[in-house]
Amino acid sequence: MVEKEQSVREKLAKYGQEHLLLKYDSMSENEKELLLNQILEINFEQILELYENTKKEIQFGEDKIEPIEYIDKNKLNENDRDKYTKIGEEIIKAGKLGFITMAGGQGTRLGHKGPKGTFKLIGEKTLFQLICETLIEGKNKYGVNIPWYIMTSRENNDDTVAFFEKENYFGYPKDCVVFFKQGELPMISEKGKILLDKDGFVKQAADGHGGIFEAIIKNNLLEDMKNRGLEWLFIGGVDNCLVKMCDPLFIGLTAENNYLAAGKSLVKANPAERVGVFCKRNGRPSVIEYTEISKEMSEMTDKNGELLYGEAHVLMNMFNIKALENLEKNKLPYHSAFKKAEFYDEKGNWIVPDSPNAYKFESFIFDAFSNLDKMLIMRVKREEEFAPVKNAEGTDSPETARKLYNDYIVNR
Ligand code: UTP
Repeated sequence: MVEKEQSVREKLAKYGQEHLLLKYDSMSENEKELLLNQILEINFEQILELYENTKKEIQFGEDKIEPIEYIDKNKLNENDRDKYTKIGEEIIKAGKLGFITMAGGQGTRLGHKGPKGTFKLIGEKTLFQLICETLIEGKNKYGVNIPWYIMTSRENNDDTVAFFEKENYFGYPKDCVVFFKQGELPMISEKGKILLDKDGFVKQAADGHGGIFEAIIKNNLLEDMKNRGLEWLFIGGVDNCLVKMCDPLFIGLTAENNYLAAGKSLVKANPAERVGVFCKRNGRPSVIEYTEISKEMSEMTDKNGELLYGEAHVLMNMFNIKALENLEKNKLPYHSAFKKAEFYDEKGNWIVPDSPNAYKFESFIFDAFSNLDKMLIMRVKREEEFAPVKNAEGTDSPETARKLYNDYIVNR
């Protein structure tokens, strides 16, 4: 222990992070051990690099960006639509489809106490329940149990599992639900200091939805998926109450045309909408973030007046298990997000901010796309598949999502 403490102190001094031991002396022996281990696991060089990156502008430099081809679901002729739907249905009936819901985010903008999926959106129905209802529909329609993997984070895992237990898994077969935790990274202040949480431990936050690939491998899920006979995994977010995970046409189109990955797109509401769009980057599938795209580029249109970069990416993707195996091998870059975080500063003051004050580092699922040779993009109708709950009020809030849900599901 003495040696461990000594090596931690040396490390902290080297990187100017000595404040991490601020509460050390008042801790129990167990807590001390925990904190030292936490610190020893930090890759300080990486944190330093991430901090330096927060000061740099995002650029796509020499990358060649081009529009990407897509298939408009609503322009398929009836023959094709039926053909691919049947192929997809066979895949589902054969038990080759699984679902993944990414629910590891912090949901800071919504400000709901507890995991975002436990937010009651439609009467007493929570986001988890609304998603589950569509899965139950699929399960009953195709007569097969469809495994549902739910990605959580250290912060919300226990509450999420307890919630499912309390709700009796909404009637979904319990042995088909698998929770798994994603990784995390320390948060830092504007000055590059690693934050301490209220108990004096390192304040860590989930490492972004791109952490899904590493989490799948670390939790041995590929093994579990193979044992269950899965070949295709639909991956969606927890905060879109219209997400259509069980979609035979989407699966059929992807599988029959030999793609290993696919994404559903929506037409951007307007050129300035704050969403990433699918594109080709150096000939490979990719997404340009709204922070990355110039005004000029976002407004470019084709001869029919459609936006050239108008296929919004809204976290509705599907991967073949072979693609999942390969994607984990490529480390994804981290992006910084400026968020509100409570923490102890270096002098021991507990800081409760009313505006963003700290950096969180996240990788994005779409950064993995450029490791694929090709990807099928299927355009779907926004009003049928997209009702996000992001903010407490205004755009993409419970109020707007509720209206979209009621318009499409209830009053249809
Ligand atoms: P968002 O990027 O909108 O973030 O997540 P968020 O955490 O829900 O909300 P804010 O930004 O703090 O307000 C989109 C989807 O990705 C999941 C979220 O749970 C949501 O389903 N996600 C995000 C993760 O699973 N892990 C993460 O680390 C981040």
